[in-house]
Amino acid sequence: MLILGIETSCDETAAAVVRAGGEILSSVVASQHELHEEYAGVVPEIASRAHVEAVLPVVRRAVRGAGVTLRDLGAVAVGPRPGLVGSLLVGISAAKGLAWSLGLPLVGVDHVHAHLYAGLLQARDGETERRRDGVEAGASGAGTSSLDLSVSSSLFPALGLVVSGGHTSLYVMRSPIELVRVGATIDDALGEAFDKAATILGLAQPGGPSVDRLAAMAGADDRAVRFPIARLSRESLDMSFSGLKTSLLYAVRGTPGRGEQGAQGYERSGADLSDRERRDLAASFQRAAIDAVMLKVGRALERFEGLAGGACRAVLTGGGVTANSLLRARLAAMGEERGLRVVLPPMGLCVDNAAMIAGLAHHLHGAGRDADLSLAPVPTTAC
Ligand code: KG4
Ligand code: ZN
Repeated sequence: MLILGIETSCDETAAAVVRAGGEILSSVVASQHELHEEYAGVVPEIASRAHVEAVLPVVRRAVRGAGVTLRDLGAVAVGPRPGLVGSLLVGISAAKGLAWSLGLPLVGVDHVHAHLYAGLLQARDGETERRRDGVEAGASGAGTSSLDLSVSSSLFPALGLVVSGGHTSLYVMRSPIELVRVGATIDDALGEAFDKAATILGLAQPGGPSVDRLAAMAGADDRAVRFPIARLSRESLDMSFSGLKTSLLYAVRGTPGRGEQGAQGYERSGADLSDRERRDLAASFQRAAIDAVMLKVGRALERFEGLAGGACRAVLTGGGVTANSLLRARLAAMGEERGLRVVLPPMGLCVDNAAMIAGLAHHLHGAGRDADLSLAPVPTTAC
């Protein structure tokens, strides 16, 4: 069964064709980053208009790139939640139009849940980037042309971690489509905190890759500044990143009301930092942010049996921040230490894409959970 996936929840217009929930035949992502650059954030109206222009050409490229025709498809899938309402509507309308005109089932896939599926997909040639990471992936059986469901089911129950620009959540997963959220950020998403940190430090957007690059530079001292890590209550699996962000701001500009000054002078901004200060601050921020996530992952694993009623067999991860080099290294090390399988998406599937939508749709369709033409967007205020 070939499924066409469409994803337009924020500022990427994406389409993909995936076979049997496992093998990516094509994955096309048209980014709008340049359109939003001068506004330092996604402008919803500009995003919707750009999706309208891009969606059909992107679908056409995905179908052609897969070497198939629309007649070969078995279903059309789309992410109707969460995201920007105008952006979601464009993808939903395109998917409904295609499904109706081709007489195909329509499947609605939760965008955040789909991020957790990205690491279970396999490139067409069987050669996946995750192999180069040295991180074990659940469905990476060499030479298989579709998801090996026996391998995939041996991953559950699993702990799921989504860290993106709009979401930071922990899940207990019984299968790719049966999951319960057990923790989430109470303020900023992790990617959002990275983006704001980059702005404070005077770095380019998207901020995550900028901070990551700087923190990885030779000589960067990740202990130069001790930033706070929010633990919340002892039991809590929730996270908080706004205090960390404010601490970075104060480290650059000085603490208001205390007559303090920034590292070198009064009323400084990120642009006034020396290269070394900026590097050390980026490394220290990144370390604290990733420490905070790992703390909650560790706590969730300790409590896992109580929450899931069975031992944890794998940690599935997804979202833009899983591209972060420190987070990848820390998760891989944790997996080795605990003898747990850690599934990280290949770098190209960390950020928003439609392959993860088409892949997860296979399981929803198989479980009889198709949508109908009343499928409506469920927006969030941020994406
Ligand atoms: O998953 P995604 O494309 O969008 C949402 O669904 O939100 O994630 C985008 C986020 C941005 O905040 C970006 O700064 C962050 O992922 N990101 C990173 C890295 N690469 C992307 N954050 C930290 N380190 C990275 N290497
Ligand atoms: Zn996303």
